[in-house]
Amino acid sequence: MIQCNTFENLLQVIDNERKNGRSIGFIPTMGALHQGHLLLIQQAHREERVSVVSIFVNPLQFNNAEDFQKYPNTLVADIQELEKIDTQILFVPSVEEMYPIGMETPGIPDFGELIHVLEGEFRPGHFEGVAKVLRRFLEKMNPDYLYLGQKDYQQVLVISKLIELMQYKTEVKVVETVREPDGLALSSRNKRLNEEEREAALVIWRVLQFMNENKLDYSVSELEKEGLNQLRVEPLARPEYVAICDRKDLKRTTELIPGECVALIACWIGEVRLIDNILL
Ligand code: PAJ
Repeated sequence: MIQCNTFENLLQVIDNERKNGRSIGFIPTMGALHQGHLLLIQQAHREERVSVVSIFVNPLQFNNAEDFQKYPNTLVADIQELEKIDTQILFVPSVEEMYPIGMETPGIPDFGELIHVLEGEFRPGHFEGVAKVLRRFLEKMNPDYLYLGQKDYQQVLVISKLIELMQYKTEVKVVETVREPDGLALSSRNKRLNEEEREAALVIWRVLQFMNENKLDYSVSELEKEGLNQLRVEPLARPEYVAICDRKDLKRTTELIPGECVALIACWIGEVRLIDNILL
């Protein structure tokens, strides 16, 4: 695995691969890697891309200073995991490398409502930060493919819209959510759950499955309300939203059309905020 810390160095390595006729699959991460991240990289390998993985804990996308400070840093273990699956290129830039003229730049296009609903409402500024860091990565690297997890459903839509609005040539590939055997979606934040909270966190996937299985038996608002009630039965759970939306643009729907909707949950379990979703 080749490790780069500057764009200058990274672009030389990427150019060499391109000269050999290879296409580039970019997998952005914030480290603390787990099987979910690794599946994205393996998908890029299956599709015969040169894998470029970034590890950068982007300060701009944390609306909560404590969440940023507590974000796990496990670079040595991450490198071992990446090597085990034959990752080709690792990019670990500094904040100065990512934002050389300050964090106000680059600017971002007008996303409309998409960045202000759901996660955007409860984490103001979050998607502006995600869009800025992706803009910087994509403009510098111009990857052929970008691998993103369905786990962060709204992020997939925001980044896809960034690509559309900025007319980048990168194609987005969405990879399914990797779960623990009991259903909990893998997340770097799961490491902060104690045993009791870990058990309590299962309520999220249980409720999502309930919503999927009962999607034809309730109205949309009843199903959202029922989901919220079921989350509240768990004493350690503090739900922020349970929403059924159009999967194309996350507009709230009044009619549940199977194949066109997604149910999304954000919920605190103790001091840890978790998100998950299911296609309905
Ligand atoms: P991070 O949370 O590290 O996630 C990196 C990628 O892994 C994202 O595309 C995310 O959706 C995917 N991922 C996370 N958990 C997953 C799971 N259980 N199954 C499948 N994929 C999963 O998302 C970010 O970082 C950042 O916002 C980033 C895009 C890197 C921009 O800073």
